[in-house]
Amino acid sequence: MAARIGILYGSFRTRSNCEGIASWVATHLNALGGVQVLHLSPAHLPYLPLGPILHNVIPQAVKQPSDYPIASAQEWSKLISSLDGLIIVSPQYNLSFSGDLKNCLDHLYHEWKDLPVVIATYGGRGGGRAGIHLKEVLEHGLKANLISQGELEYTLPVDYIRGDERVNAGAAFLADYEQKTIEVLRKLLEAVQSKRDAK
Ligand SMILES: Cc1cc2nc3c(=O)[nH]c(=O)nc-3n(C[C@H](O)[C@H](O)[C@H](O)COP(=O)(O)O)c2cc1C
Repeated sequence: MAARIGILYGSFRTRSNCEGIASWVATHLNALGGVQVLHLSPAHLPYLPLGPILHNVIPQAVKQPSDYPIASAQEWSKLISSLDGLIIVSPQYNLSFSGDLKNCLDHLYHEWKDLPVVIATYGGRGGGRAGIHLKEVLEHGLKANLISQGELEYTLPVDYIRGDERVNAGAAFLADYEQKTIEVLRKLLEAVQSKRDAK
């Protein structure tokens, strides 16, 4: 059975650079074969963004999706639980990752545990600070199985930040990162396979 790999977008902006980078990563993932790639962003999932956490339920206490107080969190829980692996493609916002991404993580808890996760970041200097903060949250907070952080840091040419153009999957600068990206994606798929073999 194909491995279900989610690509979680760290930017929910309507004209973001995330879509292009995520699509480029997805192309390489598909080329490795044996995967079903799911794009996790507002453009692909009707219930994102999930919205503020308002209810008197802590995700740590939730035992099953129906325990979540809102339908969108129930759907989100089922989807994340169905994944074999996850790639987070995140921009750097003010030396960290976006509040929108944190909100996606905070709505759930047990669903992230042991999930093989790759962190890929981008920004004016590769978005490394966002990656460090994501590592802290995912590894130490949510007990995910962090496969890679700091290896995939895409430095955006300034036109994609200040100008009107946005990254698309054919952007020339991404070629510099191709080899490393494929290497890290292979590592993710190996971790997914090991987890399956252990069951
Ligand atoms: C709110 C905000 C804060 C930003 N802060 C940083 C930053 O701290 N470091 C950096 O290198 N780039 C920063 N940038 C530039 C982003 O990395 C760049 O615009 C990137 O394309 C944002 O991702 P997105 O287009 O997918 O939303 C910031 C951009 C925004 C919108």
